[in-house]
Amino acid sequence: MHGKTIAFFSVSNDAITSQHVENFNRFRRILPWGKRYKTMPAVKIGRFAVHKNFSKHGYGSKIMDFIKIWFVTRNKTGCRFIIVDALKEAQPFYEKNGFSFLSSDGENDSTRLMYFDLKTVMPVS
Ligand SMILES: CC(C)(COP(=O)(O)OP(=O)(O)OC[C@H]1O[C@@H](n2cnc3c(N)ncnc32)[C@H](O)[C@@H]1OP(=O)(O)O)[C@@H](O)C(=O)NCCC(=O)NCCS
Repeated sequence: MHGKTIAFFSVSNDAITSQHVENFNRFRRILPWGKRYKTMPAVKIGRFAVHKNFSKHGYGSKIMDFIKIWFVTRNKTGCRFIIVDALKEAQPFYEKNGFSFLSSDGENDSTRLMYFDLKTVMPVS
């Protein structure tokens, strides 16, 4: 497989808003009082895939660890969360990597919005 791509991902700037969360005011309580904005900046995973010949070997989780550390290093974009519109079949993968659902709605939809709180991997200053 020399020179072949076995995995890729893409990220973009996005946000968590009240439309995404079942109980927005409760969700915002994880933030300090002065930072409970109506829109919370987030980095969104757009594409994420591992070549099928290499899946379930831990590469996806290693890449996810890289993305988490990448975004807390030098406070790259000032985002507190990673979000992803997770395909149904990939939701167990995201759950294993610390992501949660933002709402209990859409259980039967083909994708559901999930989030990861980057605070949990931020270096203690
Ligand atoms: C989802 C995907 C990126 C995971 O990559 P991966 O390299 O296979 O993931 P890992 O090997 O790090 O798996 C970590 C855990 O998630 C589980 N997992 C991974 N893919 C899974 C799936 N499709 N269904 C259920 N569990 C899954 C693994 O079993 C593993 O659990 P374990 O630690 O108990 O063994 C990969 O399967 C993929 O490219 N799928 C097709 C594209 C896709 O769905 N992308 C997501 C778009 S939102």
